[in-house]
Amino acid sequence: MDMIWKSEYEIGLAESDVQHRYFLDLLRRLQEHENSDLHDREARMLLREIDRYAYYHFSSEELLMSIYRYPDLHQRKHKHFNLLQVLDKKICDFRQLGTKVGPLCKFLTRWFFRHIDDDDREMARYIRRSRETDQSIDPRHMTASISRDLRL
Ligand SMILES: [Fe+2]
Repeated sequence: MDMIWKSEYEIGLAESDVQHRYFLDLLRRLQEHENSDLHDREARMLLREIDRYAYYHFSSEELLMSIYRYPDLHQRKHKHFNLLQVLDKKICDFRQLGTKVGPLCKFLTRWFFRHIDDDDREMARYIRRSRETDQSIDPRHMTASISRDLRL
């Protein structure tokens, strides 16, 4: 897998593309420590950030899906929860069993690209279509409306 961001990785949803790009950069930095184990402080810090960023990223996409009433939201939330459980278990094994970064990084990279291809492309198509057809639930308009109210 190429760890440098390419336009073909984009799903056409700016919010998610920015986060995916940052996530891939975290993975690329982690890969530089592939022969390290838990004694590598930077690798530990990167894993902690990857773990927290995954939670943040999923919450962010769930919020978007909720705003646009994505029909598979509950199923997707369940999938996110399961993925985070697996991620936590892998990171826990790394810390407790002293495994190397390499296999964990490979797992995370596969997991990341599968997330984009299996889930996010469909979600992005749905949200783009919603934004084109229903301006009333576009969060940019919601923000404008809230700002207007605050000025009154
Ligand atoms: Fe995503």
